[in-house]
Amino acid sequence: WRTQAPLIVEINRLKREKNAAILAHNYMTPDIFHGVGDFVGDSLALAKEAAKSDATIIVQAGVHFMAETSKVLSPEKKILIPDLKAGCSLASSITGADVRLIKQRYPGVPVVTYVNTTADVKAETDICCTSANAVQVVEWAAQQWGTDKVILIPDEFLARNVARQTDVEIIAWAGHCEVHKRFTAQDIADMRAAWPGAEVLAHPECPAEILEAADFAGSTAAMNDYVAARKPAQVVLITECSMASNVQAESPATQFIGPCNMCPHMKRITLKNIHDALVHERFEVTVDADVLDRARLAVQRMIDLPP
Ligand code: 13P
Ligand code: SF4
Repeated sequence: WRTQAPLIVEINRLKREKNAAILAHNYMTPDIFHGVGDFVGDSLALAKEAAKSDATIIVQAGVHFMAETSKVLSPEKKILIPDLKAGCSLASSITGADVRLIKQRYPGVPVVTYVNTTADVKAETDICCTSANAVQVVEWAAQQWGTDKVILIPDEFLARNVARQTDVEIIAWAGHCEVHKRFTAQDIADMRAAWPGAEVLAHPECPAEILEAADFAGSTAAMNDYVAARKPAQVVLITECSMASNVQAESPATQFIGPCNMCPHMKRITLKNIHDALVHERFEVTVDADVLDRARLAVQRMIDLPP
């Protein structure tokens, strides 16, 4: 922390000079999350903040699909990502052409797309969802389209998790988060044996066996809220490693115990490349006008749903 302090001070100065804001996802390391993030949170919260902010430059401390989503919602702003290679295994599991083929196969069935997708994929979509609102969005789409089926892509585990909570039939895709799919039911069994009193919280991108064994499943923001409200003595967060470090700051009385997995894409973002992004105003994320307008419809529909 002490060695990072001058860089944090300089980044915060650059933000003021350039009227820039930093959107930091919950999986950013604590130096970014607490040191320079203007808005922090889950995918849904960051997408909304990008649209509301009056900054002219947004630095997305997160992965590429998040920067695209910010651009889609704020086309007039300059959206920067500190490392263009910060991708996502879910976003790269499906293309716009794939979605067009799925739609041909299931005519009249609405397409709900997880926000962890490219703008190209969102442009083929009827409405987006996040892990926090997927059940609500699926039920809304089924009702609006008057169907008993909904296509929910690309996360197969999120789709299965939603299918357990609704009567709507879910048509899924075989995309996975490379971080959450590595957890096993044995991980949870081992934790329960070692820490019998610990509460186990898992992200809905985990395989079904994990979610069945957990005490609670929710988005990164939902996990944060759960810990803040219930203040468990010990908690296991089955998700990306930085999550526990960031939540811990607000719940010092709770003991956070492993296991966790690291997202190599999120970890490409550092204080150093955030600084360079602000100095050189790089790397700008752009989206074709036609794709942007169609993708915005899908994201905006989600944002406009009642809470
Ligand atoms: P949420 O923050 O929406 O829960 O998403 C988690 C994630 O994996 C983002 O990449
Ligand atoms: Fe993608 Fe998973 Fe990394 Fe999130 S944690 S960016 S879903 S690979």
